[in-house]
Amino acid sequence: QKPPVRVAITGAAGQIGYSLIFRVASGEMLGPDQPVILHLIDLPFAMAALNGVVMEIQDCAFPLVQGIVATDNQAVGFKDVNYALLVGAKPRGPGMERGDLLKENGKIFTETGKFINDNASRDIKVVVVGNPCNTNCLILANQIKDIPKENFTAMTRLDHNRAQYQLADKLGVHTSDIRKIAIFGNHSPTMVPYIDQMTAKNHKATVDQQWVTQTFIPTVQQRGAEIIKARKLSSAASAGNAAMNHITTWVNGTVEGDYTSMAIPSDGSYGVPKGLIFSFPVTVKNGKYSVVQGLPISPFYQGLLDKTIKELVDERNAIDHLLK
Ligand code: NAI
Repeated sequence: QKPPVRVAITGAAGQIGYSLIFRVASGEMLGPDQPVILHLIDLPFAMAALNGVVMEIQDCAFPLVQGIVATDNQAVGFKDVNYALLVGAKPRGPGMERGDLLKENGKIFTETGKFINDNASRDIKVVVVGNPCNTNCLILANQIKDIPKENFTAMTRLDHNRAQYQLADKLGVHTSDIRKIAIFGNHSPTMVPYIDQMTAKNHKATVDQQWVTQTFIPTVQQRGAEIIKARKLSSAASAGNAAMNHITTWVNGTVEGDYTSMAIPSDGSYGVPKGLIFSFPVTVKNGKYSVVQGLPISPFYQGLLDKTIKELVDERNAIDHLLK
């Protein structure tokens, strides 16, 4: 049997945590032959609720779970951790400006970055889910001294999956038939769902441009808000699912002839300022991702890219003092 790996989940007492933890514990994320030790991290006030989650994990008698660490102490929480899904974040309260949200979360991710740097396994792979996830990841990675920067990523896989569903529905095919689409940019309403190279059932597929601009792109960009309206709560199961997909693909790779979307430190590709945490189309092989190069960018898409780049530059400027 393989030795266990340690998987940390922050915000473990929250709603995404509740949909995510049990699936990780069952082996869905890392495979049915990979034992796990769960590191469940939340704030002090949430420890009683987290203890309830721990009891439920115990009561599932999962064959792959070799241990559970439930804590509000991040030094303990990140000790020797191999994978971290950073879900916990401060939500946007009524009347709170985006700038305030960035600052509040900036404090959280600065601190978490220090704990990861000082305690985690040097091969840790991190996905930031808590919003604003791209800039939270930038702040976090800035605290890291001796773990490769490319190990710090943010999640746009939910947006990717949402786009895939809308396109499959439009074309009357299964979601798994849709390939070569990607999300560029920020996980925010400026995100850019790119479909100019899309294939369906391995054939080039096109949809009319009016539908793309008036229906498809706004639907994907606003899907989170639609779910909040319907559920009175933000998307949780689909977000947890996407976080697992992100890690699974990072570990197992993309399929030949397809790519996925991950927000990663920009290397300057597609004119994106270096270092921004920016979602790109990526292929993954042997645990390493690379940006898909040379995709044709139409003037329409360039206009959208410019907007999402500007938004991320503005976010970086708003928390510049935390990057010193
Ligand atoms: P929730 O409010 O149900 O749970 C959040 C949990 O995080 C709470 O238990 C809270 O105590 C904990 N927490 C807050 N700060 C923490 C810290 N510093 N350390 C550890 N735990 C901390 O929220 P939910 O619905 O689970 O969402 C979590 C985050 O995920 C939100 O920021 C949300 O905006 C984001 N999200 C991101 C998506 C994406 O596509 N990137 C999609 C959906 C949600």
